[in-house]
Amino acid sequence: MLATLDAREIAFRDDVLAGLSAPIPALPARWLYDRRGSELFDEITRLSSYYPTKTETQLLRDIMPDVAARVPKGLAVVEFGAGSATKTPLLLEAIAPAAYVPVDISGDYLEQSAAELQQRFSRLDVIPVVADFARPFTLPGGIEHLPQLGFFPGSTIGNFVPSSATDLLRQFRALLGPGARLLIGMDRVKPVERLIAAYDDPEGVTAQFTLNILTRINRELDGDIPIDAFRHEARWNDILSRIEIHLVATRDARFSVAGSSFEVPAGSSIHVENSHKYGPRGARLLLLAGGWTPIAEWSDASQDFSIVLAEAQPERFAP
Ligand code: AVI
Repeated sequence: MLATLDAREIAFRDDVLAGLSAPIPALPARWLYDRRGSELFDEITRLSSYYPTKTETQLLRDIMPDVAARVPKGLAVVEFGAGSATKTPLLLEAIAPAAYVPVDISGDYLEQSAAELQQRFSRLDVIPVVADFARPFTLPGGIEHLPQLGFFPGSTIGNFVPSSATDLLRQFRALLGPGARLLIGMDRVKPVERLIAAYDDPEGVTAQFTLNILTRINRELDGDIPIDAFRHEARWNDILSRIEIHLVATRDARFSVAGSSFEVPAGSSIHVENSHKYGPRGARLLLLAGGWTPIAEWSDASQDFSIVLAEAQPERFAP
């Protein structure tokens, strides 16, 4: 059985078995994005209660002339993620880079979106890289002589706990090198009711998105999790400044996954996702801890979302 699993399947199985065995059961959020999960996330971004995508897209539209004036010409843009059909073209149109390198773990999706962008920007060198951007990887040859701009929109940084977010930013810093810039989207703290509405929509799409991870486990890891024994719950954790997504057992749930047995008692939960929200100072401190000095920041009129342009700190940053 082991011999037939590829590296991704082994990583999924190991993460799920370790996560379900933990004292507080948890599953890494990156496994939410199989094909169905990605479709559901796409649907989430169009929900009226899910403000981040709409707000960030409009903000990008508004600030692009300003961003273009603050970055060098002839850049290589390295996007951490496959790129969105709406947000990425706004950047590419405004700064006319020499190369665009989207980095994503999902090869199929990446090839498709890269091909679409290549068609639209025929003079741009589009070089997709299939890699997990949360782990060390190397950039394609031929762009090392270009000034680099990392692009990390969507507030995906919020899905990492601060220690991992810092590691990730440091890794981006090491990858892009001295003199690089980073354009990053960060979601802001706001009234709890709006946050909960964004992560527990009345249409139930976010609930489907979360529960889909159980369907994926059953399908890919020979599981028999009773999916109807779990319900989606979004909680605001004020101390940790984050939305937490839990799958709460509505009755005692006993099941097996990849040959191991588990039990989740009624009322307890599997922690599936975090989405950290930052105030302006917290956002700046996180970037500084990750090796990036903020040089400009923008937010919408309601201060719902911010985009920060930062510069890679020199290796030895003065105390
Ligand atoms: C991808 N990420 C930034 C989303 C967020 O808002 O944290 C994931 C998400 N989960 C539920 N809704 C949206």
